[in-house]
Formats: sequence, structure tokens, C-alpha cells
Amino acid sequence: MTKNNIFKYKTIKNVIVFGGSSGIGLAIALKLVQEGVNVMVVSRDEDKLRKALARLRRVDNNSKLYSTNIDVSKYDDVVRAMALANKTFGRTDCIINSAGVSIHGELDKFSERDYDEVLNINLKGMFNVARASWPILKKTGSGQIVSISSASGLGGYPTGSIYCASKSGVNAFMESLAAEGKEIGIRIFNICPGQVDTPIWNSEDEIINHARHDMLKAKSIADLLWYLVNRPSDEFFPKVVIQPFKPQPNLLGRNKGRGGIYKKI
Ligand SMILES: NC(=O)c1ccc[n+]([C@@H]2O[C@H](COP(=O)([O-])OP(=O)(O)OC[C@H]3O[C@@H](n4cnc5c(N)ncnc54)[C@H](OP(=O)(O)O)[C@@H]3O)[C@@H](O)[C@H]2O)c1
Repeated sequence: MTKNNIFKYKTIKNVIVFGGSSGIGLAIALKLVQEGVNVMVVSRDEDKLRKALARLRRVDNNSKLYSTNIDVSKYDDVVRAMALANKTFGRTDCIINSAGVSIHGELDKFSERDYDEVLNINLKGMFNVARASWPILKKTGSGQIVSISSASGLGGYPTGSIYCASKSGVNAFMESLAAEGKEIGIRIFNICPGQVDTPIWNSEDEIINHARHDMLKAKSIADLLWYLVNRPSDEFFPKVVIQPFKPQPNLLGRNKGRGGIYKKI
């Protein structure tokens, strides 16, 4: 244990947001920019990144904004993005990973490719981001990593086999890292939201179990994150679950009363 078990988290100035071009990641980037933080948004699609940057610029304050397109499922890509952030910022205070995909369906309709895609992006992507940031944060003796996992990782439901497996893997992985990080001044937050109204739900094939207006707003996740990363350094929130506080009567009679979406594949 480090002396006195007290770590100093500096005022957050520079943040990299993986999955920052859309949905929860973009809402987080917007919140950070509103708070005057310099932000690098990262995802695969250059066009989405360009649009995200244009939206961030409309906040019109003094934040410096950057983007780079990489695939979180590829370790070398993530190392490249982290190196770019460090070179650009000098020091990266907080690493956020909101990159993820969702495929739902009955088990016998899934292909090996579906499995590989979801696990490689959601779980291996989290490993890649944490592993590439670890030596950088370790050297500074402080710093924070936030993963956007899911309440779907806390259990299972029909059609959720692959997605829930990926997110429960993330939860176990981040729980281990949270304990390791405590020893060296790296604070980990693993945020597990219930359903959030984002473009992840846009697929035409999906039947959404309850109306999108009953879902959480992406802004709520961003506000929660900002609250957490600014807590004093002697406070630790390794896993935070946030759910919509709404009755969901239309879940009854569908999927045997369990939540989730159904995608015909
Ligand atoms: N919406 C919900 O109900 C909900 C609930 C709980 C948890 N979550 C989790 O929250 C995270 C964000 O989801 P969202 O709802 O905000 O969805 P979204 O709007 O579709 O955003 C997903 C983001 O991840 C990026 N991404 C996907 N695959 C990537 C890859 N291989 N490499 C780099 N970036 C990649 C996407 O950009 P590109 O496509 O350009 O790469 C996009 O920026 C996901 O991990 C999701 O599982 C969502």
C-alpha cells in the first residue's frame, strides 16, 4: 500500500473518450467540454467523429478538441490512440471507455462471428483500453479509468446471452482492476446503466420492450460520471448501477416478463 493510502487526483483537464462519437460517450464528451475539459473523442467511423466534433465545438468554450479513429478491439490501435492523447495533452487525467455494440437474439440464431464481434469489442476492447493506459497512469501515480458497462452484466435474460456474457465479463474484469488500481493510485469506476435512449437502439429489426422515453437519458450517465470523477480521493465507487425509475408494465407478457430487446437474426 502506498504511503498513507492517500492519492491526489488533480483537477480533470484532459480526457480521452473511447466511443465518444455517439450516445453515452458523446453525452460524456459534451459534459466534459461544458466543464472546460480538453477532450479527445475516439471511435471507428471518421464521419461520425467529424459530426461529433462539430457538435462539441458548438459548446463554444476554451476546451481543446481532438479526435482519432481506431478500433478498440485491436490492441495496437488503442496504444496508438493513447500515445496520441499523451503527446497532445502532455498528461491524460482520465480514460473513459464507452465503446460497445449490442446484438440480441436466440442462441441458435447466433453465428460465431456475432460472438466474436461482441466479445472483441465489449470485453477485449475494455482489456485493451485498460492495458494500454495502465503504464501511463501507473507512472503518474494517479488517474482514473471509467468503463461504461451495463446492468445487463449483472444477470441474464432471454436473447441476451452474448451481450450479457460480454458485460458480466467487463464487470468481473473491472472489479479485479479496481482492487489492483487501489494499490497504485489508479481509481476505477465501472458504471452499469439500465436502458439508455441512444442510437444503439436504432436497428430496424429490434423490438424495444418499452418506450424509449422511459429509458434513461445519456445526459444522466454523463452527469453521474462527472460527479464520480470529482469525488475526493479517499472515496471509491468500484461499481455504480443506474436504472430508470419508471414502472415498466409493458414488460409483462413479453419475454416472460424480463427486459431486453429482441433482434431477429
Ligand atoms: N444504450 C443503452 O441502453 C445502454 C445500456 C447500458 C450500457 N450501454 C453501453 O454503453 C456503451 C455505449 O453505448 P451507446 O448506447 O452510447 O451506443 P452508441 O450510441 O451506438 O455508441 C457506441 C459508441 O461506440 C463506438 N464503437 C463501437 N464499436 C467500436 C470499436 N470497435 N472501436 C471503437 N469504437 C467503437 C461507436 O462508434 P463507431 O461505430 O464509429 O466505432 C460509438 O461511438 C456500450 O458499451 C453499451 O453496451 C448502453
